[in-house]
Amino acid sequence: MKILVLKSSGNKKGSSNLLADEFIRSAKESGHEITEYDVIRSDIRPCLGCNHCGMSGPCVQKDDYENKLKGMIRETDMLVFVMPVYYFNWPAQLKAAIDRFYSFTGELARMHKKTALIAVAWDNSDSVFDVVKACYKRICEYMNFMDQGMVIGKGCGTPEMTRRSRYMNEAYELGKKM
Ligand SMILES: Cc1cc2nc3c(=O)[nH]c(=O)nc-3n(C[C@H](O)[C@H](O)[C@H](O)COP(=O)(O)O)c2cc1C
Repeated sequence: MKILVLKSSGNKKGSSNLLADEFIRSAKESGHEITEYDVIRSDIRPCLGCNHCGMSGPCVQKDDYENKLKGMIRETDMLVFVMPVYYFNWPAQLKAAIDRFYSFTGELARMHKKTALIAVAWDNSDSVFDVVKACYKRICEYMNFMDQGMVIGKGCGTPEMTRRSRYMNEAYELGKKM
C-alpha cells in the first residue's frame, strides 16, 4: 500500500525522525510504497476558519498544502503522523496540516485511511502524552481513520537517548506489521 509519512521536527536527524526511519525501513522491506513529507519545511499556513471551502471545496490559501499535500493525502492509503511533543501537545506545523483537513473533511472521512502515530518527548512519564494521544484518537474517530498503532517514545529527549531506547524496535515492528 501507499504510506505517507508526515514528519514535523526541525531536527532532520532528531528523535522522531529516527523512529520514523525505522518504521520506513521495515515497511519498505514489507513491500510498501513510502512517501515522506516534511511539514516543517513546507509553506503550510494555519486554517483561517473563513469557511470559503464549505468543508468541501478549494482552500483560499494557495500554499504547499492546497497545491501539493492535499493531493498526496488523497492518493495515499495510510498516513503516519511523526512528531516531537511540544508543551504536551502536537507541534504547531503538524497541527496546522491537520486543521487543513477542514476543506475536504467529508471526502477524507469517506476514504477510511489507515493511520499511525509516532511521538517522542523528553519526559519519561505517560502523562506527557495524554493530550497528544487523546487528540489523535478523537481525530481518528471523527475522520474514520483506522488506527494501526502508536509508538509513544517516552524519555526520547535526544537522538542518543532514542537510539538506545526500545522504541527503535517498536517503530520497526509497527512498520513490519503493516
Ligand atoms: C518548543 C519545545 C517544547 C517542548 N515541550 C516538551 C514537553 O512538553 N514535554 C517533553 O517531555 N518534552 C518537550 N520538548 C522536548 C522534545 O519533545 C524532545 O527533545 C524531542 O526529543 C524532540 O524531538 P526531535 O528530535 O524529533 O525534534 C519540547 C521541545 C521543544 C523544542
